[in-house]
Amino acid sequence: MARVFLALVLLGIHYTTTSAFSVSSTPGQTMNGIGASGAWWPNDVFKFPDNVREQVAQLLFSSSGAGLTSYRFNIGGGGVGVNNPTRAPQTFYVSPGVYNWSADAAGVFFLQKAAQNNVPQLTAFVNSAPTTMTTNGRSCGGNLVDGQIQAYAKYLADVIAHFRDQGIRFTHVSPMNEPDDTFGTCGQEGMQVTPQQRANVVNTLRDALDAQGLQSVGIMADESSSTGNFLPEASQWLPQVRKGALAAVSHHQYGFNNDASVAQLGSVGRNLSGVNTWFTEICCFRAANSGQQSNPAATLTYGSTYEPTMIGALQLGQLLYQSFTQAQDAHFDFWTALSNGIGCSPLNNPSCATNANSNGWNDGLIYYDPSYASNHNTAVYQTKRLFLMKHFANFIWLGSTRFAVSGLPSGVVGMAFKSPNQQSESTPVGSARASLILMNMGNSAVSVQPSQAALGNFVGGAVTSPSTDWQTFGASSSVSLPGLSITTLLFN
Ligand SMILES: *[C@@H]1O[C@H](CO)[C@@H](O)[C@H](O)[C@H]1NC(C)=O
Ligand SMILES: *[C@@H]1O[C@H](CO)[C@@H](O)[C@H](O)[C@H]1NC(C)=O
Repeated sequence: MARVFLALVLLGIHYTTTSAFSVSSTPGQTMNGIGASGAWWPNDVFKFPDNVREQVAQLLFSSSGAGLTSYRFNIGGGGVGVNNPTRAPQTFYVSPGVYNWSADAAGVFFLQKAAQNNVPQLTAFVNSAPTTMTTNGRSCGGNLVDGQIQAYAKYLADVIAHFRDQGIRFTHVSPMNEPDDTFGTCGQEGMQVTPQQRANVVNTLRDALDAQGLQSVGIMADESSSTGNFLPEASQWLPQVRKGALAAVSHHQYGFNNDASVAQLGSVGRNLSGVNTWFTEICCFRAANSGQQSNPAATLTYGSTYEPTMIGALQLGQLLYQSFTQAQDAHFDFWTALSNGIGCSPLNNPSCATNANSNGWNDGLIYYDPSYASNHNTAVYQTKRLFLMKHFANFIWLGSTRFAVSGLPSGVVGMAFKSPNQQSESTPVGSARASLILMNMGNSAVSVQPSQAALGNFVGGAVTSPSTDWQTFGASSSVSLPGLSITTLLFN
């Protein structure tokens, strides 16, 4: 074999162990941000020492951290009736037109950090309206009151106008979250908004924002819990939305539905609305088959598991890949950026944070000790998911276009993105105009030749693997993709 190889090299024949891959010339969707939400964890982490709060802000928002390009701030409803204190955010609302801007200092602190770091997409999202606007006078278990939709829209516009006056410009507002559910168990805030109410909420909010001079703030809806909720309900409300009132159709994917169903969601959402679909929340995934826990390409389902390694990272990568290639979503947000659902006690157990367990939850990119209040452990623990998100946030530039990739070695999936502008700040290896994000779901390394991408001059890239969180590398004729890795190749 060695002799044959040498002979081929001497003959100048290109010898490679992999088949050729190619990047499609057909443009896909235009991309518009990668992020996570500020629900709940600020209520704990705001109490941590200054240096830890700063570390968290840097890890999420700065270019030395994940450099998220989207952040979702939760406008709290006051947490009335919510049985988990961490999930009971304070509310600005006092009475019609009267607000307490000192409320929710914790949430506002991290919102300010996102704004200071120039996170380009800032969404204000709501789980529940103020209690005077829900049918049961609580922040969970009820419905939005029809007669209060006008007041609700004015309240949201007032909150957004207040932050604009403070120099924080929300790009989007999301007035309902999983409106298919009342959240009657009250483990968090939530309210039902019936399909018959949704267009009215969107249209009324559009008017209220415009009246405040907030024409640039886009509305997204309806944050359906799953494809199974979205598909039968979309035709009941989207056609009633006034043209121009909606900026994006937002959805979650807690059904962990298959490719065909997710593709249908994207297609139906765009057809009925004329605007892009955005994937705005997911967490809490694990392999559907318990024998597949260590398979990054396993079929996923909802359930407990804390998986901080490359396996959990690539399982999340699978969901981004499905979102971008099947639903053709323009945007992706993970659910809570931080979580205390680590499922073990990290203080005196060094393997707790780095090993998988079935008690915790895949609902954070970074974790903290659920017992911090009693044991004073305010350390934060990073997962490989944070670094996977760093690839997507750094190298799917706002305004870039997705292109499909085919013919990759077995077990490798990839997507290419071309930017209309030269990108320099977000790349570790000089300026670039195109990226090729490759996830190797297999356990063995495989090589690819960057030139096959035909995306321009290969300038290097970055890799996250079991042995490195983030390593940059320069140009070469062949790049080895380690087993269980995400590698981004950059081109100029
Ligand atoms: C405003 O909110 C802060 C923080 O929750 C609270 O301490 C204060 O009493 C509130 N003020 C009013 C007038 O409700
Ligand atoms: C969406 O519209 C396109 C173009 O008219 C059509 O080909 C496609 O079948 C529609 N999709 C759905 C799910 O209705």
